[in-house]
Amino acid sequence: MAYPQGGPLRVEHRGTALVLTLDRVERHNALSRQLIEELGQAARAAATDPSVRAIVLTGAGDKAFCAGADLKERQALSKDQVREIVRLYRTEFGALDRSPKPVIAALNGVALGGGLELALMADLRVAAAGVQIGLPETSLAIIPGAGGTQKLPRIVGEARAKEMILLGRRLSADEALAWGLVNRVAPAGTPVLDDALAFIEPILRGAPVAQAAALEAIDAGLDADLATGMQLEILAYDRVLVSEDRDEALRAFGEKRPPNYQGK
Ligand code: COA
Repeated sequence: MAYPQGGPLRVEHRGTALVLTLDRVERHNALSRQLIEELGQAARAAATDPSVRAIVLTGAGDKAFCAGADLKERQALSKDQVREIVRLYRTEFGALDRSPKPVIAALNGVALGGGLELALMADLRVAAAGVQIGLPETSLAIIPGAGGTQKLPRIVGEARAKEMILLGRRLSADEALAWGLVNRVAPAGTPVLDDALAFIEPILRGAPVAQAAALEAIDAGLDADLATGMQLEILAYDRVLVSEDRDEALRAFGEKRPPNYQGK
């Protein structure tokens, strides 16, 4: 499957990281229909690309990661067309959400509405110091429609999610860090993409089969009761046990050298 080219999503290989840059600076990288589709296309292509160990999402410029739905495009859409876009979020953001490779959002600027929901599809989030993060939908008389009402409470807890969604409250990077909504704030002077790439170095040289199995066990377990989750973990463990990388890890340990994982 091919990566999108020449559209609003810039696709770049940085070593074994695939960097996807939302590139619509004139609209604060707002999510047009084409951009949503290209995100899904890139996620599907990355899933089967052996040269990619992780996906990094970021935005062009230093103002916005993504200002959410393209409100100018939306003015021209019928209600049925909006329903279709909301469904598209499910399938296309869903491809990132279910990615077997770790997804990291490098928040270079504001992440609002669908922009934050996109970041919630990621497994890890790194923010630049000055960012603002929020779900302002109810102030626009709608609700988050790309998973925000479901994902945010799972990450920050019910009360904080309700505070953000009902008040339309925007968090600073430091507040987001304190709430566990971002994993890390980039130090001043370090571009957030560089900081994120350095942060995920252990993933980039790590064991892909184990990472995919761990993600699957965690994500599926969050939707299940504990007993089912424990069973899911055993099934996932079985997959890593028969991987070549697992044998390589033991060999490397015995030979006192770093392991060289092949993702098999
Ligand atoms: N969709 C389409 N265009 C958008 C946009 C969006 N979500 N957000 C910003 N833009 C456009 C603005 O209309 C403006 O274009 P113009 O110069 O043609 O008028 C341009 O991007 C710059 O925006 P501006 O508001 O002047 O920049 P700012 O730095 O003062 O503020 C934001 C930036 C992101 C804080 C502000 O634009 C904003 O709050 N946007 C709406 C975000 C939102 O509510 N998203 C949730 C949708 S559900």
